[in-house]
Amino acid sequence: MPLQTYREQFPILRDKIHLGNCSQSPQSLPVLAAMDEYLENWRTVGMDWEFWMEGVERAKISFARLIHADVSEIAVLSSVSDATSMIASALPIGHRHHVVTTVDEFPTVGHVWHAHAERGRIQLDFAKAADRIYTPAVIEPLLQASTALVSVHHVGYYNGAKQDLKTLAACAHANGSFLFVDAYQSLGTCDLDVKTQGIDILVSGNLKYLLGMPGVAFLYVSREVAEQLRPAMTGWFGRQNPFHFDAEHLDYAEGARRFNTGTPPVLAAFAARGGMDFLQNVGLKTIERRIDELSAFALAGVRARGLALASPGDVAHKGATTAIRVGDAHAVEQYLMERNIIASARADVIRIAPHFFTLESEIDQALDAIADWVRRH
Ligand SMILES: Cc1ncc(COP(=O)(O)O)c(C=O)c1O
Repeated sequence: MPLQTYREQFPILRDKIHLGNCSQSPQSLPVLAAMDEYLENWRTVGMDWEFWMEGVERAKISFARLIHADVSEIAVLSSVSDATSMIASALPIGHRHHVVTTVDEFPTVGHVWHAHAERGRIQLDFAKAADRIYTPAVIEPLLQASTALVSVHHVGYYNGAKQDLKTLAACAHANGSFLFVDAYQSLGTCDLDVKTQGIDILVSGNLKYLLGMPGVAFLYVSREVAEQLRPAMTGWFGRQNPFHFDAEHLDYAEGARRFNTGTPPVLAAFAARGGMDFLQNVGLKTIERRIDELSAFALAGVRARGLALASPGDVAHKGATTAIRVGDAHAVEQYLMERNIIASARADVIRIAPHFFTLESEIDQALDAIADWVRRH
């Protein structure tokens, strides 16, 4: 399909430049159609749990395909915070109660590990890399014989710094530890294969590059790891047979089903599947190449305008986001919004986050407006 046909799937692109994909991607017709399947069923059938469960299963299948996992390795939760809490509730693993994470995680991940450390359930260490790139050289000194998990992001929320997950997995595994990855800022922009990368546990929501809406998140736990975990955060959907209705006994379902809790977020799961299937029809490898082109274009544009780059300076070390240090980033976000340009502020940076449907001319317009704001302030 030509780019213009894809762009027509996003009605908002007629009126606005949407470079806020690191925060919330634009609404698309395939996502609306998937949501409408649920709404129409609710409207006309009235009560149809089987249809709901089928819809959630289809979303799991789509997510599994996206990361090259098996559907039995996927659980459905409501947010990355929930999915992280789920894993924390299953620690320690045997004698291993130590978690190594980084100061550059999205804060929610750090908060969850902290809450469990505060209760004495785990021991926690934070790694800090000055350039926000986490190599084994940074992580290794913090590992202990008791380290259960190394918890890192794939692409950083603040400036798009991209981590080499394969080397981090090898580093964790050499210590007998597992790799936990927050891939919220990368899924939808690249072809990530959890098996070849050696990822043991992965979490992501869907409202960023996966084109979905708030309310749903997916948790991948490899088959081997899942069988070792008995989460304290649980509910009837985590049982071998949720419809057995036995309050007196606690069993754990096979594989990642044990990480389900209560009634899943059905509408959001329908939307998520619509977005993920759309991306897979375009092709993740094609999208990855296009994002790299746009990333290189944005980097060149930032340099040409003399703006202060806060992202890594080469495409190999960054995801889709290009962050520009502007000081009062919320004022810049507002300034852009008034010009029909959607970009996202975080602390002192404004983030330009294109997707496969973005045009170079749109990035130019955004960078011109940012340069204009910087000149005046
Ligand atoms: C990398 C990353 N992780 C986690 C989150 C938050 O996830 P949730 O709100 O689903 O808990 C965000 C949100 O911006 C994020 O960028």
